[in-house]
Amino acid sequence: MARHKLGRDSSRVMLRERRLQRGLLSALGLVLAACQGEAPPSGGKGGSNGTAPSASSGTSTVGGVGGGSSAGSSPVVAGGSQGGSVNGGSSSGGVASAVGGGSASGAAGASTTGGAGSSASGAGGSSGSGGAAGGQAGSAGANGGGSGGTANVPMCKGTPTTLKDAGACSDRLIGTAIAANHLNDSSYTTTAKEFNYATPENEMKWDSIEPSQGNFNFAPGDQVVNFAKSNGMKVKGHTLVWRYSVPSWVSNIGSADALRSAMVNHITQVMNHYKAGGTVVAWDVVNEAWENDGTKFWDTPFSSKLGMGFVDDAFKAARAADANAKLYYNDYRADGMNAKANAIYNMVKGMVERGVPIDGVGLQVHTGTPNAPSTPDDILQNMQRIAALGLEIVISEMDVHVCDGLTAQQQKQYYHDVVAACVKVPKCTAITFWGASDKYSWVKDFNETNCAGKNPSACLWDDNWMKKSAYDGVMDALVGK
Ligand code: XIL
Repeated sequence: MARHKLGRDSSRVMLRERRLQRGLLSALGLVLAACQGEAPPSGGKGGSNGTAPSASSGTSTVGGVGGGSSAGSSPVVAGGSQGGSVNGGSSSGGVASAVGGGSASGAAGASTTGGAGSSASGAGGSSGSGGAAGGQAGSAGANGGGSGGTANVPMCKGTPTTLKDAGACSDRLIGTAIAANHLNDSSYTTTAKEFNYATPENEMKWDSIEPSQGNFNFAPGDQVVNFAKSNGMKVKGHTLVWRYSVPSWVSNIGSADALRSAMVNHITQVMNHYKAGGTVVAWDVVNEAWENDGTKFWDTPFSSKLGMGFVDDAFKAARAADANAKLYYNDYRADGMNAKANAIYNMVKGMVERGVPIDGVGLQVHTGTPNAPSTPDDILQNMQRIAALGLEIVISEMDVHVCDGLTAQQQKQYYHDVVAACVKVPKCTAITFWGASDKYSWVKDFNETNCAGKNPSACLWDDNWMKKSAYDGVMDALVGK
């Protein structure tokens, strides 16, 4: 039975969790310590950015365990100090309300009490009606049964047998990346039924969807959306502005004004195309803008010609195109409390303060060299402070490869603990895994890991579509175990 043990001794559980985390993190750290700050995990194009600074961004290496540098260094931990303390909230009856009482900014307050759906930023007022992706915090409050909006206690109706049903115990959407070119594999499409949220893996990236200026190729993206729709899944569009998958015509635009117009037109046309269907409920508007040390943006046509203001411009164009879609900033290696996460926190805080329409932050959680693991406590703390701004958090692309020496048990534990962190934060509304099966995992082709000659085994299903113990870890976390 998937019953949450309301009466459990939370301090004992916390101790046990800490012990497990320590073990896991030290195992993860065997190889990772030296790997900080390498090239980004994106797109496999590596490129010159690999020079990103080392030590700094990596606060969360192994040493990060005790919080050490990382936790302490965070500039603004609003969440922790507001209302429900990071872990502490969870004492009585396990009804944590990590953010619950706390949502610092007035705007967010609504989110925990059910109803409205809380279009956090206040800026967009995107109504919270945003379909499945929206409004979840509110309904979770109902589940939690508490007027205080304790959305972080999963309450299952019956025993869930799929990830999406387990996610429904706390109203989280459970997602996977979907690639159009695998939709002819029946194992792929059958396994996809475990999920109720899809992110097109590549089909909506700029070079795929607008390969030459003004010529849009929606067919592959439509395939993913149609598949999702016919399987009862919502979709998060991915991604409107990124430094990879940028066609050369964009890079070659000379003037700032022309580039801004091209960007706004791209966002407008793509979002217009998909909003009509009602399946695409959210977008990664800007992906991976920050360098790994959090000191500045990557050098891209957007940052170099438009300055950092391109992010505001992109979100404003997105809101103008679709008033109801959830709009996210998405990045990697910024899930825990580290310099890059701080930079992102400060950026989105500024956006909220300026009234720029942003609804949330995506934490990718690609884990394993070159991305050192963040402690689940750090991830929780980061989620808390983002939630305290009134923003949602989504785990957007999680996978955990084992090439650093992780055992299956440790992998399971890490998956469990990160998912459990999301479940503790009412405004963490969705958890997406970057593919279901190892068979098609991008990690196999991503050349910045240390997986040469090894199977990354990063996903919840193995190469033969058998569920791994990591799957059980996720299920447990989703039902509150
Ligand atoms: C990856 C895809 O999975 C690969 O198929 C593709 O070759 C490169 O991009 N961060 C992101 C995703 O935001 O879009 C990336 O997806 C993985 C890292």
